[in-house]
Amino acid sequence: MSFSKGFFWGGALAANQCEGAYQEDGKGLSVPDMLLGGDANTPRTFCPQILEDRFYPSHNAIDFYHFYKNDIALFAKMGFKMLRLSINWSRIFPNGDDKEPNEAGLKFYDDVFDECKKYDIEPLVTLCHYEIPWNIAKKYQGFYSRETIDMYVKYATTCFERYKNKVKYWITFNEINFATTSDGAYQSVALFSEEDLNRTEPCKIDELKDNPQKRFEALHNQFVASALAVKKGHEINANFMIGCMICHITWYPYTCNPKDIIACQKKDSIFNDFSGDVQVRGEYPEFIFSYFREEGINYSFITDEDKKILKEGTVDMYTFSYYMSNCVSVDPNVPTVAGNLEGGAENPYLKTSDWGWQIDPDGLRYTLNKLAGRYPHLPLMIVENGFGAKDKVEEDGAIHDQYRIDYFREHIKAMKEAVEDGVNLIAYTTWGPIDIVSAGTGQLYKRYGFIYVDRHDDGTGDFSRKEKDSFYWYKKVIDTNGEDLA
Ligand code: BG6
Repeated sequence: MSFSKGFFWGGALAANQCEGAYQEDGKGLSVPDMLLGGDANTPRTFCPQILEDRFYPSHNAIDFYHFYKNDIALFAKMGFKMLRLSINWSRIFPNGDDKEPNEAGLKFYDDVFDECKKYDIEPLVTLCHYEIPWNIAKKYQGFYSRETIDMYVKYATTCFERYKNKVKYWITFNEINFATTSDGAYQSVALFSEEDLNRTEPCKIDELKDNPQKRFEALHNQFVASALAVKKGHEINANFMIGCMICHITWYPYTCNPKDIIACQKKDSIFNDFSGDVQVRGEYPEFIFSYFREEGINYSFITDEDKKILKEGTVDMYTFSYYMSNCVSVDPNVPTVAGNLEGGAENPYLKTSDWGWQIDPDGLRYTLNKLAGRYPHLPLMIVENGFGAKDKVEEDGAIHDQYRIDYFREHIKAMKEAVEDGVNLIAYTTWGPIDIVSAGTGQLYKRYGFIYVDRHDDGTGDFSRKEKDSFYWYKKVIDTNGEDLA
């Protein structure tokens, strides 16, 4: 057994991390536009006003807005069958609560999808990849307000109607489970405290004030918004395939101490399974209520009417990101590591990336099998997987990123093993097929691409593109449908 004939090989991007042109053609500000850049020693910061003379990575990003034809041609040269990208909500509704959509914004994505079609690349479109219009954060407290549900559904409906003949595969929210953690408050549900909205100086992201009660209510509203959009999407085009998207961090018990096993099971349930269950099964799983009680979260916001909406808007496919695994321990003194969205206890059997994320291809096979067992009726898509690293441009212009090839080779092998195990995997879109802004750190220095972009954390660079060694390697992988990984 191997990858199916129509397997979707490709790559994945997010508008706010690649497009730039942050105020062009009527675009409004969105939450990521308010985040300042980080560098190797400083984390990224937030300020509720745009500060002159400071570097904002998303404002120009890699200027995909003007380079998209060039970049899609490069993806086609690698043989991409699918391109995951997001629509920047504030290009379509600049303030979120506008009466009419912005035609220039809609036209831009028409052009992007037409360009994909030219090369037979299937678009996979994320409606919201953390790109909530800033006005919604300021005026409505993000998804904490029920009004935001209506604004989102109107936005989703506008996109479904407009692109119904160009786009078949959709994702309602990127990594919806991010809001189960305190950092997810500002990025995922655009919920800021009053105090943070009144700041005049930038503050570190992890100093933003969290309110778990409001955050879980906002997440609930996002589930409702997603379910309403799924229902609407199917009415507009019955062939649409609409998915959830979960940031899947694979957790292992640090030891075989039963206390670690229980702690690990709980972590896995709340971080990974809770959001997936709501979107796939259309109901809150029982285990989350004991967590709510423990945390003192009043869950009376789950009304009977909302329960019905969740049931009627279940997804057609399960999509997820996978970068690494972490361990869980009840011992607070065990060594720890960093990670995507969350770190954890160190795994002595694994190596880490330059950013301290543990590299675990077997974890991907394990995860695919776990998900296929949990949601046996749904196809799976890996819509993010990749290796953020420091690349060196040699004097002759070459970029020898063997470390990236090694990472992908091992992960694709693990996918293949999972397919042999019987997993229904239909797509693999690698994260950042071209260098983009890092969501976590705001760095351009943390590079994921098969294609190098001359753009740097001090704002220099001419945006030129260059193919890395991994470009030719991935091309060969796609050409052979995953058979030649050498
Ligand atoms: C995922 C996000 O969690 O991780 C992406 O969906 C993000 O937006 C990716 O870029 C990698 O994380 P980072 O922090 O290295 O950019």
